[in-house]
Amino acid sequence: MASNGNRDTARERYETREYDVLIVGAGGAGLRAAVAATENGLSVGIVTKSLLGKAHTVMAEGGIAASLGNVDPADGWQTHFMDTMKSGKFINNWRTAEIFAKEAPDRVYELEQWGALFNRTPEGKISQRPFGAHTYRRLCHVGDRTGLELIRTMQEKVLATDAEVYMETTITKLLKSGDRVVGALAYTRENGKFIHFKAKAVVMATGGWGRIFKVTSNSWEGTGDGVVLAYDAGAELVDMEMMQFHPTGMVWPPGVRGLLVTEGVRGEGGLLRNSEGDRYMENYDPERMELSSRDVVARANYTEVQEGRGSPHGGVYLDITHLGYDGIMNKLPTMHEQFLKLADIDISKEPMEVFPTVHYTMGGIKTDPETGASNVPGLFAAGEVAGGLHGANRLGGNSLSDLLVFGRRAGEGASAYVKESVHSSDIAEGEVLTEIGRVLEPLKKQGEGESPYLMQQELQEAMMEHANLMRTGDSLKEGLGKVLGLKDRLANMKVQGSRLFNPGWHTAQDIRYLIQISEIIIRTALERTERRGAQWRLDFDGPDDELGRVNFIVKKDEQGEVGIQKREIPPMPEHLASLFEDKVVDMAGGEKRGAESQF
Ligand code: FUM
Repeated sequence: MASNGNRDTARERYETREYDVLIVGAGGAGLRAAVAATENGLSVGIVTKSLLGKAHTVMAEGGIAASLGNVDPADGWQTHFMDTMKSGKFINNWRTAEIFAKEAPDRVYELEQWGALFNRTPEGKISQRPFGAHTYRRLCHVGDRTGLELIRTMQEKVLATDAEVYMETTITKLLKSGDRVVGALAYTRENGKFIHFKAKAVVMATGGWGRIFKVTSNSWEGTGDGVVLAYDAGAELVDMEMMQFHPTGMVWPPGVRGLLVTEGVRGEGGLLRNSEGDRYMENYDPERMELSSRDVVARANYTEVQEGRGSPHGGVYLDITHLGYDGIMNKLPTMHEQFLKLADIDISKEPMEVFPTVHYTMGGIKTDPETGASNVPGLFAAGEVAGGLHGANRLGGNSLSDLLVFGRRAGEGASAYVKESVHSSDIAEGEVLTEIGRVLEPLKKQGEGESPYLMQQELQEAMMEHANLMRTGDSLKEGLGKVLGLKDRLANMKVQGSRLFNPGWHTAQDIRYLIQISEIIIRTALERTERRGAQWRLDFDGPDDELGRVNFIVKKDEQGEVGIQKREIPPMPEHLASLFEDKVVDMAGGEKRGAESQF
C-alpha cells in the first residue's frame, strides 16, 4: 500500500509518497510497465512531467511492427529479427532483438483484447502495411493514428488499476541508499511543491531527447530527463551517438517545421521527387526506393536539397495524390487534416514538401534484455530511453512494439526485484534538502544571470550545425566546445518569478539534461570513426570492421566526467547466426550482397 505524509523542515517543506514501484514517464512503455507491476499486486506511482496520454508514443503514427503474417503469411519472428539486426547494422543487442521479434505479436493481440481498434483485412484480420526495410507487410495500424490508439488503450487499462498518477510532476534526481536506487525527488509544475518519492524500484520510461535539436518531431517533453537521471545515478548508457532523423518532417510553414509526416505515406505508395521531377531514390537504393531504411532515405532527402534540387521551402516533394481523396481519408486522415489546417495544402491534389526531422534516439540506458534492469540495483528502463534493441538505425514501427514488449518486461523485472528486496527506501533527510536547494538556485540568484531559454536556443543551433545527420570530426569538436561553454554557464542561470507554473524555471531543469546529453552524443560520435546507420561521418568512407563489433558504453567516471569505453559485442549464438546463412553477411559491415544500400 502507498503511504502519504507531510513533513516540515527548517528550510523547505516537502511531501513524501511511498510505492513499491515508481514509474517515471507515462508513454506506452511506462503504462505497460505499470500494468505489469499492478498485476503483481504491488503499489505503483506513475510520474509524468506532462499530461497522461500526451507522449511521443503518439508520433509513431504509421503502425506497430509485429510478424502476425496476416497479409504476408511467410512472415515470422525470424524475418523480423533479421530485418531489425540488418537495419541496426548488427550493433544491436541480439538477445534483445530476439525477444522483441518473438513477443511482439503477443503484445499486439493483447492490445487488441484490451480494446485497441485496428484497420482490418477483408477477412477481418488486423491489417498490415509495408514500411521501410521490413521484408514483409508487417505494420498493424489504425489509419495514421496507431500510437494514439495505443496510448488511449493503455491509459484506460491503467486507470482501471490502483496505480496513482502524478501529472505535471518533474523528477530532478534519483535518490540512492548505498548503490541502490530507492526513490526520487520531484516538484509539481502547478505550484512548485516538492515530493520525495520513496520506492523499492524505479522504472525509467521517459522517452527520448529530440529537443536537443531545433528541428524535431518531439514536443517540449522530449528532453531526455531519464537518461541523465540514470547516468547521474551511475547507469551505463549504450551507443548514444545514434540519433534517428526521420526522412519526412514538414518544412512549411516555419512554425511547424519538423512535425512528423508519417512513413505510412510511403508505405501507402507515396513517391519522393526532387524539383526536377526525378524519383531520385533510384540513385540511392534502386531496389527498395522510397521504402529503404530511414537512415538512407533521410540522407537522400538531405543530399537532394544540399545539391540544389530542393523545393521552394527547402524540402523535397512527397506525392500521395494517386490514392485520391477517399483513399487518403481511409488510410491517412491525420496527414490530410495536418496539411490542410497547417499549410493550406490538400494532399489529395498536391504533393507535400518534406525534409528530415530528428525523431528518435536509438541509444539509451543499457538494460538486461530479460528484465529491463540497468547496472544500478533498483533501476529499470524501457522504451525509447533504453538502448540496445535498435542498434545503428531503428525500423519504423519497431518503437511501438518495443515499448510494449520491454515495458511489460521491465514491469515484471522490477516486480520480481521488489519481491526479493529486503532493503528500506529511507535516506538521510539532508540529501533531500540539498537537492531541493540545488533546484531552487536559479530562482534565488541575485544580480545578472543567464536565461535558460537563450541557452536552449544556442544549444539547439549548435547541435543542428555540428551533430546533424552528416558529421565530421572537426565540426563535432567545434560543437563540443560550444556545448562545454554552455555547461560552464549553467551555474549562472537565473529565472524570474515564483515557483508557480513557471516555464522559465522548468526550462532551467530541462537545459541541464539537454546539455549533458549533447555532450555525451558528441563525444561518442567523435569516437565512432566510421559510417554506420545513423552515424554518418563524412571524414570516413565506410563502415569499420572493428567498430562493427563494439558498442560504445558511457558511464560517469570518478571525476564526474563522461567516461567512454568500447565494449565487444558477444558473438551471436548458432540458432540466430544460422538464420543469416543463406545470405552473405559480414557482421561488421552489414549485408554484403543483396538489397542493402551502402549510401
Ligand atoms: O512515420 C511514422 O509513422 C513513425 C513511426 C515510428 O517512428 O515508428
